Amino acid sequence: EKDGFDYFMLKEIVEQPRAIADTLLGRLSVEGDLTLDEMRLSPAELRSVEKIVIIACGTSYHAGLIAKYAIEHWCRIPCEVEVASEFRYRDPILDRQTLVIAISQSGESMDTLMAVRYAREQRAKVLAICNVNGSTIPRESDGVLYTHAGPEVGVAATKTFITQLIACYLIGLYLAQVRGLKFGDEIDAVIAQLATMPEQVEKVLNTIEPVRELARSLSGADTVLFLGRHVGYPVAMEGALKLKELAYMHAEAFAAGELKHGPIALIEEGLPVVVVVPSPQGRSVLHDKIVSNIQEVRARGARTIVIAEEGDESVRPYSDVIIEIPAVPTLLQPIVATVPMQVFACELALAKGNDVDQPRNLAKSVTVE
Ligand code: F6R
Repeated sequence: EKDGFDYFMLKEIVEQPRAIADTLLGRLSVEGDLTLDEMRLSPAELRSVEKIVIIACGTSYHAGLIAKYAIEHWCRIPCEVEVASEFRYRDPILDRQTLVIAISQSGESMDTLMAVRYAREQRAKVLAICNVNGSTIPRESDGVLYTHAGPEVGVAATKTFITQLIACYLIGLYLAQVRGLKFGDEIDAVIAQLATMPEQVEKVLNTIEPVRELARSLSGADTVLFLGRHVGYPVAMEGALKLKELAYMHAEAFAAGELKHGPIALIEEGLPVVVVVPSPQGRSVLHDKIVSNIQEVRARGARTIVIAEEGDESVRPYSDVIIEIPAVPTLLQPIVATVPMQVFACELALAKGNDVDQPRNLAKSVTVE
């Protein structure tokens, strides 16, 4: 059932274009309308939402962090994101106008389940994003949007993360639609681009060989740092988590703007630093700021591994290695930028002789609090 792959993880990484297509299927029409009636939350209920709180753990939490950028930008609804294990211990402010979005691949994470129960006791509405049909979290929620990634056997989340992002974008765009927000050019462009994501990820997978070589060359490193800004920051966090869990290496992500507030002291000769660069189009201010950050760490001896949009020449002088990704709207960039991170961590772990499908100390679903 590994379809000729040595590991489930490799198979699941390669399956991502199909998983995205399946998650979009029947939900996105060619005219750009979204059909998500299956969610079981009525348009009237969704119109009454005044605040969104996203709860999740691990990789699913990173999907939630990215969702916040998209939902607040498209819908102008305030959106908080919190790790599920912290949520109910801080007396969060919830009411009938709060929509809690619980993201859980397995639908069985105890931390997330307890947060869902707590939110419903406080009369918030709960919408689950889940990959496993009929699992506990969707059963206990008011509504659910399933990701159609198919079963994920590798312990590290890959295709389920990418499809969680798709589900989050769909929910954000649908909320904007039912709330009658004017679908301007930007949103139309995003919807059109969302439909092309399977091909964009396919492109990334077809040009991934240099990432493999790079990973193998770094198997002796002690630490890898990851930098990003805007949606690239949670992508950096996901890259660092993948490296920890698979390669058992110390890895840490920073918002690039925070570097100067402390972390830059960590930079020393030869330290690998992976940087996610926003598109030079659109939000170009952030792009230029991160290019300065690359310069700063390189000047202090870092080995810079730069994930940048194809044709972005501005990063070339400061990059030891450039990993090119297709040009897509900023908010969708996490889909294409995460894939090289997954391959990087997987390959580095394999180079160290680790079992990428069953990393030590980890379980696929964490059913204890
Ligand atoms: C990371 C990973 C974990 C899970 C986390 C939440 O690769 O797999 O961090 O993302 O345990 O699991 P779910 O999404 O099933 O609630």
